[in-house]
Amino acid sequence: MGVEGVVSTDVLANALAAMREDVDKHFDLLLPVPEDARKQLFLAMRHAAIGGGKRLRPLLLTAVAQMFGVKRDAAVRAGCAVEAIHVYSLIHDDLPCMDDDDLRHGRPTVHLEFDEATAVLAGDALHALAFDILVSAQVSTDPFVRAELVATLARASGMDGMAGGQMMDMMAEQAGSGEEGFDLHTVTRLQQLKTGALLGASVEMGAILGRVPPEGRTHLRSYARDIGLAFQIADDLLDHEGDEALAGKALRKDADAGKATFVSLLGADRAREQAEMLVNQAIGHLANHGDEAEVLRAIARYIVERDR
Ligand code: IPE
Ligand code: IPE
Ligand code: MG
Ligand code: MG
Ligand code: MG
Repeated sequence: MGVEGVVSTDVLANALAAMREDVDKHFDLLLPVPEDARKQLFLAMRHAAIGGGKRLRPLLLTAVAQMFGVKRDAAVRAGCAVEAIHVYSLIHDDLPCMDDDDLRHGRPTVHLEFDEATAVLAGDALHALAFDILVSAQVSTDPFVRAELVATLARASGMDGMAGGQMMDMMAEQAGSGEEGFDLHTVTRLQQLKTGALLGASVEMGAILGRVPPEGRTHLRSYARDIGLAFQIADDLLDHEGDEALAGKALRKDADAGKATFVSLLGADRAREQAEMLVNQAIGHLANHGDEAEVLRAIARYIVERDR
């Protein structure tokens, strides 16, 4: 790695560490545990939302927003809204009726630490919290900006986004890969919804906060599309060949489930090549930006190099 690479690795490590601290602080303030019968719900939300996760989505949102002069605090708050949706999606993803996982962020999943009903409700409440965060004046004093943020996150979370992708993912387990099952085109669509939509919303919301008009967001959307796909290929590769202790979650589940993924369809080597190609393409979309886009370039590289 050249000197430039070392510098940007440092910049990214610091940015990720600062974001983990800020997001933890916000969730801590947002979720004070009440001394009433709701106590367990709050404890479960805190268990899932505080002290784990890479916080990639808030970092993406903040990195884009800061390119356009948005104050960090407003961007981090909006980032917490996306993270609340992400954390809710993980709680539900781990449930026995979905992936049935015991471990998340190196800790017991919410339904094991508490119980299934509490896990469902913790997800529901985080889902609602996301939109409550976005309508606060601390995110933006402009109601039009707040409405656009809400609409963007809602679309990325629902049937045309994450939830729709999760449905396709469940179907991919039944279908398997190959001629009878999901082909590359379908798996690409699945991943764009399941994972790409929320990553794309993070980038889009940074641009919305920065008051970039839709016609000025095209290259950022292209960047988001490419890193979104690269991100999910990396997740599938991690599942295939990663280290469980580093990842903090159970791996080798996709093949056991007979699920169609990029790795089952392309093989690990071609999947890795594809992810690297997408990262270079993503960085190419930022060619008209200077140093202000360095964090975005570093995030793109990190997405395929990560071990967790
Ligand atoms: C994992 O997402 C689930 C997918 C969408 C593939 P991340 O890898 O961003 O999860 P954490 O929050 O950092 O653990
Ligand atoms: C989950 O995908 C994506 C979500 C929308 C939550 P996975 O099931 O592949 O995520 P991991 O591997 O459990 O983190
Ligand atoms: Mg899943
Ligand atoms: Mg899972
Ligand atoms: Mg996975």
